[in-house]
Amino acid sequence: MPETTFHSLVENLENYLEYQRDEGVQRMEVDRAVLAELARMPDVAPAAAVEVPVAVAIPIPEHFQSLEEIAAHVSTCRNCPLYEGRVNTVPGEGNADSPDIMFVGEGPGADEDAQGRPFVGAAGQLLTKMIDAMGYRREEVFIANIVKCRPPNNRAPLPEEMEACLPYLRQQIGLIRPRTIIGMGATAIKGLLGKTAGITRLRGTWREYEGIRLMPTFHPSYLLRDPSKKKQVWQDLQLVLKELGKEPPPREK
Ligand code: URA
Ligand code: SF4
Repeated sequence: MPETTFHSLVENLENYLEYQRDEGVQRMEVDRAVLAELARMPDVAPAAAVEVPVAVAIPIPEHFQSLEEIAAHVSTCRNCPLYEGRVNTVPGEGNADSPDIMFVGEGPGADEDAQGRPFVGAAGQLLTKMIDAMGYRREEVFIANIVKCRPPNNRAPLPEEMEACLPYLRQQIGLIRPRTIIGMGATAIKGLLGKTAGITRLRGTWREYEGIRLMPTFHPSYLLRDPSKKKQVWQDLQLVLKELGKEPPPREK
């Protein structure tokens, strides 16, 4: 092929990719063989192959031995396009030794992304209060999310992003073996149960995830927008306490 033709081909490809990116395309399927070829061309690779983020689907191991191993794997994960916007991954934290409760949210927001810790922003402060009101400390429960990287503009994770990330949460739950799970919000319930029924209908009713009792309730961010829903969430949390054979502590005023 004459060199000029080759260069105009590459230029066209570049323009095309830039156009797609500007249109909001975040991911493209590219044959591995093509990527490998592009990477071998030093003057092509940076423009054509690297500027458009490519989610690299490396299978997630099926038998992690520890939460630390999962967190380490997550920290370099590029299994879905969410890796691109993250500052820190947020694998989750807390008591991993069969805690009474594991809380599952949606995904990191700005504060969580900045700190690499789950539920540390405004919704997190409310969650901490809820945990307190139940008579626990944050360190006594485990807190995690469906996706471990922050979705852009705090949008809900896409189905394919949830699918890509869920093997981590599933294995976390398998290692942690919490006595109960509280799924907060529609994304958590969809991720854990595959149910798309509204959280309004599902909340307050016991479900099961891999033999573990699962209570759906509203997400704390939703409570920040509509505080009148706090009463229902408190009812749900009390059902969990009852299941655990616990009473809520007397309220301090
Ligand atoms: N919202 C979530 O769903 N998870 C967090 O960690 C913080 C806010
Ligand atoms: Fe990997 Fe999950 Fe982050 Fe996607 S959100 S890059 S699957 S850790």
